[in-house]
Amino acid sequence: MGSILQRKLAFSLLFLITVVFSCCKVNSKCEFKAIFNFGDSNSDTGGFWAAFPAQSGPWGMTYFKKPAGRASDGRLIIDFLAESLGMPFLSPYLQSIGSDFRHGTNFATLASTALLPKTSLFVSGISPFSLAIQLNQMKHFKVKVDESHSSGPPGLPILPSNDVFRKSLYTFYIGQNDFTSNLASIGVDGVKQDIPQVIGQIAGTIKEIYGIGGRTFLVLNLAPVGCYPAILTGYNHTVSDLDKFGCLIPVNKAVEYYNALLKKSLSDTRTELKNATIIYLDTHKILLDLFQHPKSYGLKHGIKACCGYGGHPYNFDQKLFCGNSKLIGNASMTAKACRDPHNYVSWDGIHTTEAANHRISMAILNGSISDPPFTLSYLCPS
Ligand SMILES: *[C@@H]1O[C@H](CO)[C@@H](O)[C@H](O)[C@H]1NC(C)=O
Ligand SMILES: *[C@@H]1O[C@H](CO)[C@@H](O)[C@H](O)[C@H]1NC(C)=O
Ligand SMILES: *[C@@H]1O[C@H](CO)[C@@H](O)[C@H](O)[C@H]1NC(C)=O
Ligand SMILES: *[C@@H]1O[C@H](CO)[C@@H](O)[C@H](O)[C@H]1NC(C)=O
Repeated sequence: MGSILQRKLAFSLLFLITVVFSCCKVNSKCEFKAIFNFGDSNSDTGGFWAAFPAQSGPWGMTYFKKPAGRASDGRLIIDFLAESLGMPFLSPYLQSIGSDFRHGTNFATLASTALLPKTSLFVSGISPFSLAIQLNQMKHFKVKVDESHSSGPPGLPILPSNDVFRKSLYTFYIGQNDFTSNLASIGVDGVKQDIPQVIGQIAGTIKEIYGIGGRTFLVLNLAPVGCYPAILTGYNHTVSDLDKFGCLIPVNKAVEYYNALLKKSLSDTRTELKNATIIYLDTHKILLDLFQHPKSYGLKHGIKACCGYGGHPYNFDQKLFCGNSKLIGNASMTAKACRDPHNYVSWDGIHTTEAANHRISMAILNGSISDPPFTLSYLCPS
């Protein structure tokens, strides 16, 4: 009897040790307490519309069931990353009502560029919150967190602890507006001239954040914008400029040039910052594949926007964006959303759907597009 009890006890103990050990071994790998994001509309969780309130229309219809400050029908890649780390969606830095910064914040705003804008928002539609401004906001945020902890306990409950900065993911998804905003006027060759400067700005920002304690950086590369309905209808081209998937060859070649330069620059930065983890994420690869082979991801439409006006082949009108109305002839026409955004890659001709964002996020999490290897779903299992 005694020996059975002993064996049972020993077994239970072993079981307990296994549980405790496996629990904490796994948890200890996940050292990310917060996310700080820098970007444009591809990762803006409400910053632009907090600064300039006006969003209306079918935005957010899939997930939020109302406009939620995002340029999509639902969640963005940054939302899926936050979810996978068990965090709430990132509060925009500019959002003064209802924000909670304990798990970081989001500096991204719609229409942001890496380089300083040359003209105002109201002239060119480019956001004043370019990457240099977003970096200043990050530094200010850190000063405020440090102050709140040195001025005696407790800090404001909506701020993170002051040891958070070393234990955070710093994510970058910016550069697309530097590339696309001048494309129609100066062409591919003109745009290519600015690319080294754009990438220099991103690498420089990483170095500055390293200087204030950041250690882990994820950089999403440039999307294949030559497959975007807005570019396909706005960039003057001939049929011979289109590949067999209907995407613009010269534009996508310039995107590849951008991405090769970005990859090289991040590799150089990695050599310079010995203790940093700098990951190049080839999200372009998945998105291009989605445009070319939507069916192999369970989607239906590649280069056709869900929300827009004009029907086949792009459902996009340069003068009638998603959610807007205008008089055509005597009739008021509205660019409406399709009923099945889950079948589309392109939401509004410029931004991706939640369905596409989800596929891309899966690839980020499973490590298949990370260089060097970095598997968030292994480091931080949910
Ligand atoms: C488009 O390109 C064609 C041929 O290069 C040219 O003749 C035409 O003027 C261009 N159109 C615009 C709007 O730039
Ligand atoms: C990198 O981190 C290690 C361990 O914390 C430290 O000893 C070393 O000085 C750091 N190296 C650099 C270049 O910062
Ligand atoms: C617009 O309405 C006016 C007045 O009702 C009519 O005379 C005209 O033919 C209409 N135009 C078009 C393009 O339908
Ligand atoms: C990772 O996710 C992508 C996108 O969903 C998928 O295509 C790929 O097969 C996955 N790879 C692995 C190793 O799980």
